[in-house]
Amino acid sequence: MIFAIRRCTPKDLKDIMRFIEEIAVLHNVPLGSVRTNVEELKKAGFGEHPRYKCFVAEIPPEEKRKDGRSLAGYTLFSYTYNTLRGRNAYVDNLYVMPEFRGMGIGSALMKQMAEDAWSQGCTQLQMYVSASKEEDIGFLLRRGGEDLSSEEGWNLFRIHSHVLRGMASRSKF
Ligand SMILES: CC(C)(COP(=O)(O)OP(=O)(O)OC[C@H]1O[C@@H](n2cnc3c(N)ncnc32)[C@H](O)[C@@H]1OP(=O)(O)O)[C@@H](O)C(=O)NCCC(=O)NCCS
Repeated sequence: MIFAIRRCTPKDLKDIMRFIEEIAVLHNVPLGSVRTNVEELKKAGFGEHPRYKCFVAEIPPEEKRKDGRSLAGYTLFSYTYNTLRGRNAYVDNLYVMPEFRGMGIGSALMKQMAEDAWSQGCTQLQMYVSASKEEDIGFLLRRGGEDLSSEEGWNLFRIHSHVLRGMASRSKF
């Protein structure tokens, strides 16, 4: 399959939003709790100070799906700062639609991200992957990724919004 990796444009955001909903379903996240929408993605990614970068994998017109979509997958990431390692890239999404997997698209998106992050002075890429998705873990391990949970014993913590609100409004901890 011939495909092209290119920067996401605002015109792609409707498709990206559909990918985001597919990912939510994949990870049992209720669609009603997804806080982003096309407008929000546009504001966050294409304003004066973009908060993320996104690359898409585009398939040729003749391979388009019946629903008219011409994107097979995407990756969305942001630059963060780590006091030990300096500039860092945090990958929020790396996703290829199930029917386009195993054709090299995920690897090409990874390579594009690596090129971008390296050119921006990043020393590492970080992402989190569900422990139940063995194929995704294998994909990263085979490309030199290190599983920090099993190798270094890191746990991932989340402060949910209701707790965050409480923390922010409490006068004492
Ligand atoms: C991980 C993922 C991005 C890989 O994408 P991909 O386009 O299949 O990647 P590639 O084709 O470059 O490589 C897939 C690997 O699986 C193998 N493979 C073969 N057939 C396959 C298939 N039908 N499906 C998946 N993998 C297959 C490939 O040979 C390749 O093996 P390798 O690692 O030894 O090279 C994709 O599986 C995916 O989107 N998974 C879901 C991730 C997710 O949940 N993301 C959302 C949260 S961030």
